[in-house]
Amino acid sequence: MKKAYVHGYDQRENIRLQDQASTLVELLHSDTFYPAGSKVLEAGCGVGAQTVTLAKNSPGALITSIDISEASVHEARNKTAAAGLTNVQFQQADIFNLSYKPESFDHIFVCFVLEHLPQPVEALQTLKKYLKDGGTITVIEGDHGSAYFYPASEKANKAIQCLVELQQKAGGNAMIGRELYPLLQQAGFNSVRVSPRMVYVDSSKPELVDGFTKKTFTAMIEGVRESAINAGIIEQYVFDQGIKDLYRTAEADGVFCYTFFKAIGIK
Ligand SMILES: C[S@@+](CC[C@H](N)C(=O)[O-])C[C@H]1O[C@@H](n2cnc3c(N)ncnc32)[C@H](O)[C@@H]1O
Repeated sequence: MKKAYVHGYDQRENIRLQDQASTLVELLHSDTFYPAGSKVLEAGCGVGAQTVTLAKNSPGALITSIDISEASVHEARNKTAAAGLTNVQFQQADIFNLSYKPESFDHIFVCFVLEHLPQPVEALQTLKKYLKDGGTITVIEGDHGSAYFYPASEKANKAIQCLVELQQKAGGNAMIGRELYPLLQQAGFNSVRVSPRMVYVDSSKPELVDGFTKKTFTAMIEGVRESAINAGIIEQYVFDQGIKDLYRTAEADGVFCYTFFKAIGIK
């Protein structure tokens, strides 16, 4: 009886943990399915983090995933092959210099790419050329201005601001999520719809505490420590206390919120 209970409990616990691990995938991908036979361009696929989900969710679509980095394309190719997916083809290519014929694709998918580009509208306009009339573009971006948490901390805000400033200096925009509507409008897409997707984390969701608050968000901010201190935009002790305060939000009474933005436009 006890064993059965423990087993049952473990099973439920496993399902709960799996649910949490897939929460982010669900949050971003749950409404993206492409019809069988459609041609989809994934621009800036990186190491294939989204490619695997795209290909799994739309098994009948043919996905072409490109990235400017040959090394990333190589890794993405290995990742999809390891997942047994056969509906993706990869190419090393620059969004601004693609060799496809105009209107080659039924749909385009872009995730976490515009935030790095100095000319996001031009990137969207360029991609639009390769889209058939009536085809859709889906764009997902974060927005570092959307991070708030308990306990609140000015030093944590300052540490986050370092990433925002460094990304700006590199020509990007870490707060681009809130701009998706005007950007897609400016690029000439029709029927633009943006939906905010909030990640809410407290200690009842240990997988998200670990996987999102600690290993995704805080680790990302921690990653700019040297650059931020060397650039003189923050004092070392402020940055280090800010990072401690972000980890503090991962404790039993802590709470962390962040919002992604998903936009869909039609050509
Ligand atoms: C933060 S990663 C996102 C990767 C992937 N979409 C994801 O969601 O995990 C941004 C990617 O955009 C790629 N990228 C940046 N500029 C590009 C360009 N002009 N053409 C194609 N890819 C580009 C980078 O090489 C990088 O792999």
